[in-house]
Amino acid sequence: MPTPLRSLGLATSIVLGTLPAVTVAAEVTVFCSSSGVELQLCREGTSSWAEKTGNTVNVVTLPAGWDDVLPLYQQLLASKSTDVDVLILDTIWPGALKDHLVDMREYVSNEELGQHFKAAVDGTTVNGKVLSIPWYMDTGLLFYRKDLLEKYEQPIPTTYMELTQSAEMIQAAERKQGNQDFWGYVWQGRPYEGLTCNIAEWFGSTRNGSIVSDKGDITVNSPDNVEVLKVASSWVNNISPPGVLNYDEESSRGVFQNGNALFMRNWAYAWNLANSDSSVIKDKVGVVSLPKATPDGKNAGCYGTALLGVSKYSSNPEIAVDLVQYLTGPEEQKRRAIEGGYSPTLPALYQDKEIIAANPFLSHVEQAFENVVARPSQIAGDQYSRVSYTIWSDVHAALAGNTDPQAALTKLERELERVKRRARW
Ligand code: GLC
Repeated sequence: MPTPLRSLGLATSIVLGTLPAVTVAAEVTVFCSSSGVELQLCREGTSSWAEKTGNTVNVVTLPAGWDDVLPLYQQLLASKSTDVDVLILDTIWPGALKDHLVDMREYVSNEELGQHFKAAVDGTTVNGKVLSIPWYMDTGLLFYRKDLLEKYEQPIPTTYMELTQSAEMIQAAERKQGNQDFWGYVWQGRPYEGLTCNIAEWFGSTRNGSIVSDKGDITVNSPDNVEVLKVASSWVNNISPPGVLNYDEESSRGVFQNGNALFMRNWAYAWNLANSDSSVIKDKVGVVSLPKATPDGKNAGCYGTALLGVSKYSSNPEIAVDLVQYLTGPEEQKRRAIEGGYSPTLPALYQDKEIIAANPFLSHVEQAFENVVARPSQIAGDQYSRVSYTIWSDVHAALAGNTDPQAALTKLERELERVKRRARW
């Protein structure tokens, strides 16, 4: 028995298209995220398609946090709900949802796929099946307050040590001047997928650190990783508020955008919002690649591309794929880049003068894509959720001071070895 969407408490709204005289129009349900300006952009994009094609779009608003979305999809897809057509997917999900997604190979040409960044397309394919099309690219970035670094004559940090020192100094000085709520650094420390991204960045920023090697070996318990985890643990209640252990992207953005933090780790979407008219830090923000752990380490930003896929149980797969192709196509990606600052997955758009003029920030992001670090979702496949849960739980215990970094990584290594043995990767 399919689960009706309304019984899940999800808000739905209807966007009506103009029906041409003869064609029988279909209704397509699309799931849009409610994070930042995402919902508005998604409504606009899907309703342009509805107008062009005469179909109707039913927009379902997803929770802002990705972690609440995957279980929801799993529930809907397990019930083979025909209420579901187009799904927005995190880059780490195709492995977990592979049995429920349409193989788009028969609708989408290699030429169309070849127009996207290769790394983005690699993540869409499982066992040779094209289960999704890339929609926008993402990576972790360091946002900083230009005005405050200038005021206190501090450099843009290139290592986490420099970041810690400037944050300590400027936080103390700003508090002395009366802003008791001012903090040095906000990031995502809640035990959830976002923390796994922050952890992948810390480890990836060392000389040799990683969580799982390309060959699938568990490499997490290394001296480099222990050292950088000590640094991150030292931030809590020093340059980062104790509440950071419960922050997601939006909570960190709230503190930064209210003018109460010097540095913020976040995704590209935060740029346009931080510079919006209602933001108190408009035009005071700079952005760079996240720092290296040590001068001989690496810049590393977590790789996080959003994809669009179609449910296998859709009553109108062909029409749903058409909507996916429209949303992932150049016209819509260009509009989203200009209006929302979303980074295109089509390299050609980074040469588009209108886009770069409207949003010079995208040139920085394109450079940061050279330093991405992937989470082990390809190797772990449908076991990735368990792997990530284990990573964020054990590291969160160290950040909260419930265990020390070395003990946390020894435990994490043992547990990941167990998952690996069971999954036989
Ligand atoms: C962003 C990324 C996604 C990641 C999520 C974690 O949405 O695009 O890949 O899993 O943040 O919170």
